[in-house]
Amino acid sequence: MSKLTLEQEALRRRTFAIIAHPDAGKTTLTEHILLAGGAIRAAGAVRARGENRRTQSDWMKIEKERGISVSASVMTFEHNDKMFNLLDTPGHEDFSEDTYRTLTAADCAIMVLDAAKGIEPQTLKLFEVCRLRDIPIITFINKLDREAQDPMALLDEIASRLQLDPAPIWWPAESGNRLRGMVEMGTGRFQPYAKKPAGSAEDVPHPDALPLAEAAQYFEEGEHAALVEARELVEGGYPAFDRQSFLEGHMTPVLWGSALRHFGIDELLAAIGEWAPPPKTMKAHKAPPAGTRNPAEPVATTVEPGSTEVTGFVFKVQANMDPNHRDRIAMFRMASGKFQRGMKLKVQNTGKQLSVNAPIMFFASDRELAEDAFAGDVIGIPNHGVLRVGDSLSESGLIRFAGLPNFAPEILQRVRVKDPLKAKHLKKALDGLAEEGVTQLFRPEVGSDFIVGAVGQLQFEVMADRLGEEYGLEVIFEPSPWAEARWIGGAKGDLEDFMGKYRGQMARDIDDDPVFLAKSSWETGYVMERFPNVAFTKTKERG
Ligand code: G4P
Repeated sequence: MSKLTLEQEALRRRTFAIIAHPDAGKTTLTEHILLAGGAIRAAGAVRARGENRRTQSDWMKIEKERGISVSASVMTFEHNDKMFNLLDTPGHEDFSEDTYRTLTAADCAIMVLDAAKGIEPQTLKLFEVCRLRDIPIITFINKLDREAQDPMALLDEIASRLQLDPAPIWWPAESGNRLRGMVEMGTGRFQPYAKKPAGSAEDVPHPDALPLAEAAQYFEEGEHAALVEARELVEGGYPAFDRQSFLEGHMTPVLWGSALRHFGIDELLAAIGEWAPPPKTMKAHKAPPAGTRNPAEPVATTVEPGSTEVTGFVFKVQANMDPNHRDRIAMFRMASGKFQRGMKLKVQNTGKQLSVNAPIMFFASDRELAEDAFAGDVIGIPNHGVLRVGDSLSESGLIRFAGLPNFAPEILQRVRVKDPLKAKHLKKALDGLAEEGVTQLFRPEVGSDFIVGAVGQLQFEVMADRLGEEYGLEVIFEPSPWAEARWIGGAKGDLEDFMGKYRGQMARDIDDDPVFLAKSSWETGYVMERFPNVAFTKTKERG
C-alpha cells in the first residue's frame, strides 16, 4: 500500500499528450518514450499492440487500411518514482474533436517538430488548442539524424509564429550524416551520437555523456571549436529556461533528438518528469443534478488534486471495442481524491449512481484492473451507455467540471440508410455515435432527416465504417443544404421570436439544445446582425 498522501500522489503524476503534424514522428516518439520509461522492452511494440487490438476486435479496420491512428487512448507507466500518463491524440489532418477533448485531459503537451520542416499546419492548429487551454508545451525537434534546418532558424520560427520564447536546453552539433551529438546548455555536458554503421540493421548504443571540453574525439576538424562557440552564442542569444514562464505558457524548453535512433529521448523524459506540471487545481461548479426539484443555483468552486473526494470527468468514450458485447469504455480523467475499485460514483448531470467494479488501467503492453488511482490518472470505466463525453463524476454527485467543448461542425451531411426497413435502427446507432463524440447529430425541427456534422471528412468515413461493422447498417451520405451550424442562446422571448421566424432552419442536438443551420457563412452573418439579442456560438461547453 502506498504511504504517500493524496497530495504527494498527485504531485508525482505527469499527464501529457504529444502533438504533431502527421509524419513528424509522434508514433515513433511514443514508442521510444515508453522504451525509455521501461514500459516496453523492444521498439515495434506500439504498433504490434495496435495490430493485436485490431485482430481482437476489428472495430477500426480503417485505421489499419489507412495507416493512421483514429482513436485516442492512454498509456500509463511508472519511471523514477513518477507516474506518467501518456495520452495519444489522433494525428491525421482530418482529426476529429477527439483531439481537442483529449487535450482537455492533458496537463502538458510535447510538441514534436520535424527538424527539416519546422512548424507545419497541423502543429499550428494543435498549438492553438493548447494555448486556449493554457497547456504548457515542451518542444522536441525530431529527425536530427536527417539533414535539418539551421537550429537558430527553427527557434526563430517558434518565436515568431507561436509567440513563444524558445529556451534551448540542449544544442545540436550538426545533423544528418554529420550529426555528432548535442551539448547541454547549462552544464556543458556533451552527449555523443553513435551513427548506425552503413548496411547494419542493428542500432549502436550512444556513448556516455562527458564534458564538452573533453569530447574533441567525437568531432572532425574545426567542429569542436565551432560547437563551443555556438554554445556561447546561444547562451547569450536566448533566455535561460524559467519554469514559471513555461507553466504560464510564455516559454517552451526545446530539446532535440531522433526518435527513430533513440537519441535525446531519455533527456526528453527527464524533462517531462522534472518540469511538466502535476495535475492542477481545477475550476468547477457545485450543482445538483438536472431535474432536481427546487434546483439550487450552481456555485463556483475549485477542486484541489489533494482533496479527498474522488472527482473527474469523461473526455472520451470508446465503444464497441468488442462488437459482440456492445461495451463502452468511458475514459475518466481524475481531478482529485483516491479512487478505489468498487467505489460508487455519481454522474452530476443525471444523478445516476455507478458502481465502478471493473475499472481499467491502460499499460503499454497490457490492461489491468485498476485497484486505485489518483488525480491525473486516467481509468477506463466500462458501462452500458450511462456515461457520455463531458460527464462529471464524483462521490457526492455535485461537482461539475466545465470546459469540454463541442465545436461547430465544418461539414454537414444528410445520412440515409440503404434499407428503408432499418430506418429505426439508424436513429439508435446515430445517437450512440453522437454520444461517443464520433460525429454530431442534428435533428431538424421540420422533416425526418438526420443531419450529421463533423469537423473533418474522415469522421464520416469512420462513421460509415462503424455503422456497417457494428450495427450492420449500410448508409449513404448526401449533401445537405447546410453549410454551418451555430448554437443559439439568449432570453426566452428573443429565442422564441428567432426560432419562429427560422423554424425551417432549426434543429436540436443530442442534448436537445437548439441549433441554427445556415446555408452559408454569409447567412450566419446576416442573421447575427438582424438578431443582435440572440447569441450564435461556434462552441458549446458540455458538462
Ligand atoms: P506520426 O505518428 O507523427 O505520423 O509519425 P511516425 O512516427 O509514424 O513517423 C513518420 C515517419 O518518420 C516514419 O517513416 C518514421 O520511421 C520516420 N521517423 C520518425 N522519427 C524519425 C527520426 O528520428 N529519424 C528519421 N530518419 N525518421 C524518423 P516511414 O518511412 O513513413 O514509416 P516506417 O516504414 O519507417 O514505419
